Amino acid sequence: MKVYIETMGCQMNRLDSELVAASLRAAGHEMVADRGAAEVVLYNTCSVRQHAEEKVYSRIGGARRQKANRGPRPILGVLGCMAQREGEQLIRRFGRVDIVCGPGQLARLPELIAAAAAGEKAVALDPDALEARREKMKTDHRGTEIQRVEEGDWLRSGTPLAVPTNVGIPAATDIDDFDSLDMAREIPPDGWPSNQAYVRVMKGCDNFCTYCIVPLVRGPELSRRPVRIVQEIRRLVDAGVTEVTLLGQAVNRYRWSDGARTVRFSDLLADVADVPHLRRLRFVTSHPLDFTDDILHVMAGRANICQYIHLPPQSGADAVLGRMNRKYTRSQYDELVARARQIVPGVVLAGDFIVGFPGETEADHEASADLIRKSGFKNSFVFKYSPRPGTAAAKNMPDDVPDEVKRRRNNELLAVQEQVGLAHHRSYIGTTAEVLVEGQSVRAGKQGFEPSAERTQLVGRTMGDHIVHFLGPQSLTGQYVRVRIAEATSLALRGEMEEETISRGGRGELGAGFARK
Ligand code: 5AD
Ligand code: SF4
Repeated sequence: MKVYIETMGCQMNRLDSELVAASLRAAGHEMVADRGAAEVVLYNTCSVRQHAEEKVYSRIGGARRQKANRGPRPILGVLGCMAQREGEQLIRRFGRVDIVCGPGQLARLPELIAAAAAGEKAVALDPDALEARREKMKTDHRGTEIQRVEEGDWLRSGTPLAVPTNVGIPAATDIDDFDSLDMAREIPPDGWPSNQAYVRVMKGCDNFCTYCIVPLVRGPELSRRPVRIVQEIRRLVDAGVTEVTLLGQAVNRYRWSDGARTVRFSDLLADVADVPHLRRLRFVTSHPLDFTDDILHVMAGRANICQYIHLPPQSGADAVLGRMNRKYTRSQYDELVARARQIVPGVVLAGDFIVGFPGETEADHEASADLIRKSGFKNSFVFKYSPRPGTAAAKNMPDDVPDEVKRRRNNELLAVQEQVGLAHHRSYIGTTAEVLVEGQSVRAGKQGFEPSAERTQLVGRTMGDHIVHFLGPQSLTGQYVRVRIAEATSLALRGEMEEETISRGGRGELGAGFARK
């Protein structure tokens, strides 16, 4: 059948959609880019904020209207986090929905489509991710107190964490099951245009930040068997991939143990960095709690590991961090930033913040602004707090910051970040950056000249995740070039490509792929 899939939300969803497309192709389906031409329409959804879910409701409602006007209606499937959260209720509320499939059940999609084609309603949810997790949440959250981590556990170099992630997860079978789609991954028909690929190293999350729906929909934290990760990456590199991004909700908590041997995130990073011809290795997203020095040392010691850390603080105020159950304090976060800068010279940092979390005062908000001012962040994503059903915050803490205050605080943090981002980007003017070309920029054609095959507006990224705009032929997509940086905005760099396209990666003395001439 002809299948259309639209992906919302994070990188994990984008990877899931790619793997789903591969498994559907293998089952004889054809992926199409036009929703109107599809016999099966799938939405891979996000639940992290109310706004993301509203988008899906409007699509489902839209599909209803569209179907009313047309002949045979396509099979409609809701996949991913929102499917897991809403479950069968989606079918009850929207009779046109045929398939509901949680993120842990995507391998069953060919079977679910066959059932829907036979006129059935097909629902596949991860039982563990919902009820069991809700129970755990009740007992796990320790109220408003900041959970200070004991000295010995806190981010000491190489110190093993008190509780290894995989304790209590006995069977290799669970773990083998969850990466079946990853291991069956094929090269997409048009490859990876910019030679960049995501690779899952974990699934789920056990952190239970009180605002966050992820532990409820993606289930318990499980780390993938390291040899399988390395195997998958070798295959990707053989197929032409040069940049791999390791994915996990709190990727630095990766930990594999088979009793005899424990593989920490730093060990995994080192193993993956050794894959021959892998030019760039990235990872997202990191949790400040478990960002131990061993990770920083591996980052500093390997030329192909990008010196970029997405390290969301969420708030700069201890009282808010405590209610969020982030398990670190402001000063511990600041210390981590200082250590990262010391051990990995030139490291580039980026953050996420939530404004208007329950009980957030003006002083708390000012503490977040202060954190950004002192951080040197390349960029920050700022979100207005959105209560998510079933989370500890939604259950126990009134959403007491009015929306207009959330909006103002959001704008204020963005304005501070704009200043910091501008200063950050300006510091690279006059340097030369190694850029992986991602393709034609959306700005092409808006620059006062007609783009041609030989000269168009290209966009790419440095090792430090800086966005770089420059002119060049589109055929450079997927290649590494050197760009002399001439201009900066708060979000991006602009420069001129040097004539000679470089063939080997490596860092300059400024780190993050820059060199001073
Ligand atoms: N409301 C607002 N923002 C949220 N995030 C996660 N949950 C919520 C919520 N309930 C933000 C966090 C996280 C990012 C992916 O989304 O900042 O880092
Ligand atoms: Fe959500 Fe916190 Fe887990 Fe990130 S670490 S996915 S914010 S619970």
